[in-house]
Formats: sequence, C-alpha cells, structure tokens
Amino acid sequence: MLNTAEAPKAHAQLQAWIEEIAALTKPAAIHWCDGSEEEYNRLCAEMVDAGTLKKLNDAKRPNSYLACSDPSDVARVEDRTFICSEREEDAGPTNNWMAPGEMREKLNGLFDGCMAGRTMYVVPFSMGPLGSPIAHIGVQLTDSAYAAVNMKIMTRMGSQVLDVLGEDGEFVPCVHSVGAPLSEGQEDVAWPCNAEKYIVHYPETREIWSFGSGYGGNALLGKKCFALRIASAMARDEGWLAEHMLIVGLESPEGEKTYVAAAFPSACGKTNLAMLIPPEGFEGWKVWTVGDDIAWIKPGEDGKLYAINPEYGYFGVAPGTSMASNPSAMHSLSENCIFTNVAETDDGDVWWEDMSEPPQHLTDWKGNDWTPDAETPAAHPNARFTAPASQCPTIDPAWEDPKGVPISAFIFGGRLSKTFPLAYQAFDWNHGVYMAATMGSEATAAAVGQAAIRRDPFAMLPFCGYNMGDYWQHWVDFGAKLENPPAIFRVNWFRKDENGKFMWPGFGQNMRVLKWIVDRVNGNSGAAVESPIGLMPTHEDITWDGLDYAKETFEHLMEVDKAGALADAEDQSELFGRFGDHLPQEMENQRQAQIQRLQDAPEVWKLPD
Ligand code: OXD
Ligand code: MN
Repeated sequence: MLNTAEAPKAHAQLQAWIEEIAALTKPAAIHWCDGSEEEYNRLCAEMVDAGTLKKLNDAKRPNSYLACSDPSDVARVEDRTFICSEREEDAGPTNNWMAPGEMREKLNGLFDGCMAGRTMYVVPFSMGPLGSPIAHIGVQLTDSAYAAVNMKIMTRMGSQVLDVLGEDGEFVPCVHSVGAPLSEGQEDVAWPCNAEKYIVHYPETREIWSFGSGYGGNALLGKKCFALRIASAMARDEGWLAEHMLIVGLESPEGEKTYVAAAFPSACGKTNLAMLIPPEGFEGWKVWTVGDDIAWIKPGEDGKLYAINPEYGYFGVAPGTSMASNPSAMHSLSENCIFTNVAETDDGDVWWEDMSEPPQHLTDWKGNDWTPDAETPAAHPNARFTAPASQCPTIDPAWEDPKGVPISAFIFGGRLSKTFPLAYQAFDWNHGVYMAATMGSEATAAAVGQAAIRRDPFAMLPFCGYNMGDYWQHWVDFGAKLENPPAIFRVNWFRKDENGKFMWPGFGQNMRVLKWIVDRVNGNSGAAVESPIGLMPTHEDITWDGLDYAKETFEHLMEVDKAGALADAEDQSELFGRFGDHLPQEMENQRQAQIQRLQDAPEVWKLPD
C-alpha cells in the first residue's frame, strides 16, 4: 500500500487525482512537499548521495549545488512538444498537434509503471504571489527530486499553497516523469531520463503531461508549460494576457516610476535588459527588476493593465553572464543556487564561458578534464542557473505586490543587422500588434535587401498554447476594450554598419532608448517624427549625457531602407499565409498599409534635419 498517510485530505478532487496518477505510475512512495528549508536540504543531500548533485564549496558558493545532466537531456525539446486541442486547427500551424484521445492512449502506455522504484513528489505551487488575483495554482506530480527542489526556487511552493487551494480551489494538474522506472534491486543512474520524450498540453482541459526529460522547461512545469502554453489559452478565454516578457520599473531622479514589459526572442540579452544598470549620464535613474522571462497581465478596475511575474526565481542561461554583461545576475548567483551543466573549478566553484579569463584547469559539464586549449566549451551552451529572484540586487520593492504593477508600454525586439532602426513606436495598438506579430531575428547573415528573418511572433512561437492567428486576434480584441492602451514599441539593438560593425553599443546604453519610451508614454517628449514604419525619436529626443555618440551615426542608425523594409513586408505573407481563416484581417490590412507607406517613401528614409 502506498504511503499517503501524510497527505492533507482537504481537497477531494486533488486527492482523487493523485490516487489516480499513483495507480497509473506505481511509485514506491509518495511525498507531499511542504516547501520547507529542511525538506529542500534533505532532498539535496539525498541527491548528493545519489550522485545527481555535487555540493559546491561553501566558502565560495554557500548552500549551492552543481548538477550535470545526461548529455542527451540538455534543452527544451520543441519537436517533442504538443498542443493537443480537440481540433487540429485550434493548435494552429506553428504547434505540433495530436488528437487528445490518441495522445492519452500513448501516454497511458508510457506512464504505466513509469515511477516504479521511485518516490512521487506532490509539488503544490503558486504562479504569482500567493492569493494574488492575477496568480494561479498548479500541482506537479514528479518522480524527480531535482525538479522538486528547482520548483522550490522557481515558484512559491509547499503547504501554504494548499491553504490557498482550500477544499475546492482550482489547480492545473501537471504530471511529470523522467521515464526511468527502477526494477527491484536495480541501481539508479545520476541523471535518469528516457530517449523518448513527450511534453504535452491539453489546453481545453488545462492539463500538462511531461515524459522522459529532467531538464529545465521540460521538467519545471510551472514555467513554459503552465505560465505560457496553458496560461495563454486561459488568458484568451478569460480576457487577460500571458506573455513571454520581462517586466522592469524605470524610476526617474524625481522618483516617478514607469513600468514596461518587453518581449525578445532568445539570444537578444533579455535578462541583461531586465537587470540593466543605467550608464554614466543617468545619475539618479534606477531600473528595477520585476521579472526576467514571463508576465501575466490583467486589466484592473481603473482601466490600466497590471502585471505580475508569475515566477519566484531565475532559470537563466549561464554562459555569457559576467560582471561586465550583468552584475545584478552575478550577485543573484552568489548563494542558494542550483547550477546545471556548468563547469566546476578545482576549488569547487562554478565557471562558464565569458564569466572571466578561463582558469588553467576545470572539470567540464561532462565530468572531463578541461584546459583553455580544449576544443569544446567547458559549460554546455545551454547551461543554467536556478536562483531565487529575491537575491537580485535590483529586485523591485513591488515585485510581490499581489495587485501587480501598472504597465505603460510594451516593447518588442529582435536581432536584426539591417534595415531596422534602433527604436520606433507603433502608430496605434493594432499597428503594434502587427509589429509584434512579424518580429523575429535574423536566421543567417542576409544579403542586402533580402529578408531572412526567422519569425518569432511576440517571442511566443514555441510557447503559444493555441492557434497563433487566434492569439493575434486576442491581442486586437483585448486592445479594443482598453480605453487608454499602453503604447507599443519596436527596438533593435543589433543593427550593423557597412563594415559589419554594431552601430549601437547596447547593454546599459539601452537605457537611452528606455528613457525615450518613458518620455513618450508620460507625455514628456515632443512630437515624434512619422516614418513609414512608425514614430521615431529625433537626435534631440534622446538623452546623450555621458556618451560620445555622433549625431550622424544616430541618424544613420535610424534610417529606413525602403527596399529592405519592403522585402520584409513581402516576406511576411509567407507567415500570414500559413494561418488561413485564422489570420485576423487586421494583420493583413496593417501589412498592406505598411507596404503603401513604404512605396510612398524615398529609397532611404531619413530623420528630418
Ligand atoms: C527560456 C527560453 O529558457 O525562452 O527562457 O527558452
Ligand atoms: Mn524565456
């Protein structure tokens, strides 16, 4: 008989579901996570004994651990990620789909006995401050202690969540197994997983089933699976937004705070922007971090939009993070962290590419000796840190405010070496939705005038839990209901000049663009100039104190190259064409209007003198 004696029995539906999953997966024991420090320490100690974790040097990295995964289990598996709506068209052309009945049959087979010989952890968690009207609760059943301890850092996890849930509160059921049952007497491996992986979402019944992986977004089901894929479908049904966005508060020297939310595809420095340190010339300004990855946004009674960060920690990419690129992230990592697939120094600390000058000797993420002349990186390129958000020195005092923070602007960006200026504002909400729907990053170095953008609409391509065309319509409808919708901006930190050199210094200097955005939304800046693709700042609208940046370079940076922009607008028809009836007419109208404006524009549109 399973040990369910410790189970709080208050919630009958929760209890029945756990019994049902236990009957299917057949774990050797069930443990209800209370979320305490004592429990965290005990589970980590057990994983140290099992070889899953290594305790790092307590003097260098107090209360922190290193995990090295199986080399086959190192990232989210998008090709194994499914949206199983009843109708295929409701998952849309950008998601993998399988009929729910067929998928359930398949998973029932895979999950049958999959937890044999292991403990099933019951992990109750809240996405968002406990009891916040914007927050939602999930319960993850997992046979991975690694997932359970990471969930303690990444979410508000434990008994207090059951108190909020009460006897009949709603929760999203999340079932997770590494898919490696142990037979009687079979010895475990350090990182159990299965070559066959399924990351499955049923948006209509709001369920998540994940099989075969112990890594990151495949296993920490509160993050991408719940807070984006399932939540985006909930948000559409209930009239809110679940977005792949960072949230920052920009505080002026006068103490006025303006919150913005921003979406970028991967490899655009999103975490750096979330923790930006204002540059020289911006004395008195502060950038406060609310969230680095996900925003849940609901309309408040006053008609404004309020956002929370549903997460409680950072699950960030380690390589590239350094005191130069992101000191706040580095400070957040000083203790109480779990590092996965980074390298270990000879004195029991961690290292990854670009953190500092490479040490003379390391143990790489695969456990091999490593020296600077090695041909492979010491840390896996997708190596991660799991860090408590509360340790971020720039964490916003309001980050746990249950009512959220008021959002004044949305920013969308990509990595584009040509054609696209540093910053511009949408003419109105629907134009902004079109700008976000068509965003992306360059796939490869494109020839002049040729668009080769890998589209990542709203940075939601792998994270939208329903038809992306319907998602655009949801944004259009959502905006139409707002009396005073936030302004929408596009930015591009990555434009290059004729010699292939970045034209904009980026990093902390991006503050200059953020300040222009703040000025725009607070009515502090003069009329922006109308370009064919949006409203633009002139040289005078940007604050240049502390930076020696030539006016001519700025004007060059802000040029719109007609041929390139037209080619991009033409190329968008490929994306739009994929959605058939699900493409909002408004998106095509916006595209045609953009083409018309470009056709009327000079070969190279420039800011007026
Ligand atoms: C992430 C991602 O890991 O967006 O946050 O892939
Ligand atoms: Mn992300």
